[in-house]
Amino acid sequence: MTNHDDPDLALRQWRAAAADPSTVLIDGFHALKHTLRFGGELRQIVTTDRSALGELSRALAPDVAKAVLAAAVEVPPAVLREVVARPHPTGVAALAVRPDPELALARLSALPRRAPVVVLDNPRNLGNVGAVVRLAAGFGVTGVVTTGDLDPWHPTVVRAGAGLHFATDVARLPADRLPPGPLYVLDPEGESIHSTRLPDQALLVFGSERHGVSEELRSRADALLAIPMRPLVSSFNLATSVGMGLFHWQAHTATR
Ligand SMILES: C[S@@+](CC[C@H](N)C(=O)[O-])C[C@H]1O[C@@H](n2cnc3c(N)ncnc32)[C@H](O)[C@@H]1O
Repeated sequence: MTNHDDPDLALRQWRAAAADPSTVLIDGFHALKHTLRFGGELRQIVTTDRSALGELSRALAPDVAKAVLAAAVEVPPAVLREVVARPHPTGVAALAVRPDPELALARLSALPRRAPVVVLDNPRNLGNVGAVVRLAAGFGVTGVVTTGDLDPWHPTVVRAGAGLHFATDVARLPADRLPPGPLYVLDPEGESIHSTRLPDQALLVFGSERHGVSEELRSRADALLAIPMRPLVSSFNLATSVGMGLFHWQAHTATR
């Protein structure tokens, strides 16, 4: 990385790094802060205002302020708009190296595990997946696995996850290659979750926003659990369901 503020050079370096499929876009200050805090490897940082970035870093994340400023290159707003379609209000973007997918998979599959794995079965909404990664990081679970065609490392997901992809393991897998562990499927039609203690080895499976959990995963479930709802309400939002499921796991863990 360079700390010379040469926008043309910065743009050329950005394009070269972005062409590498192992590179992920880190959009905005909060994502950048978490990437650094959780050991993500940065390739480049660009900002439209170095001194504003310095102030923001010192105010919100003094632990990473030095690293941010040492690497950030100031570029005109037009250059930021070239590299990020919709620049974040904090005026900063970065490129980081995606952690090795094979290592992530090995960690997700290792037994015994100290905390569950969240499985999102064919999620459709990028914002929901990001919110779930943020929940997984906050609750300290083993990681998040998605099935289906959505890329859980899509820039919009990383932005919605506030860069917390680096604080947990995130991978996409076919439904027939999930990590080992008992399958606890969360579904409005299941029995009340209140009578069940979720084991640390569990895969907690949540369905897609429109269709719920696939028949295939439902048929393999060790338990089908519902978060009780008032009559006439059909379901909760996907990410809030994951939050409630993880809170239930954590509440029982804390009282062990
Ligand atoms: C928006 S809901 C899907 C609704 C879908 N129409 C269905 O029939 O399941 C997305 C996911 O959130 C979880 N979910 C939503 N409400 C829930 C509840 N009350 N209990 C358990 N899981 C719930 C389930 O995993 C569900 O598949």
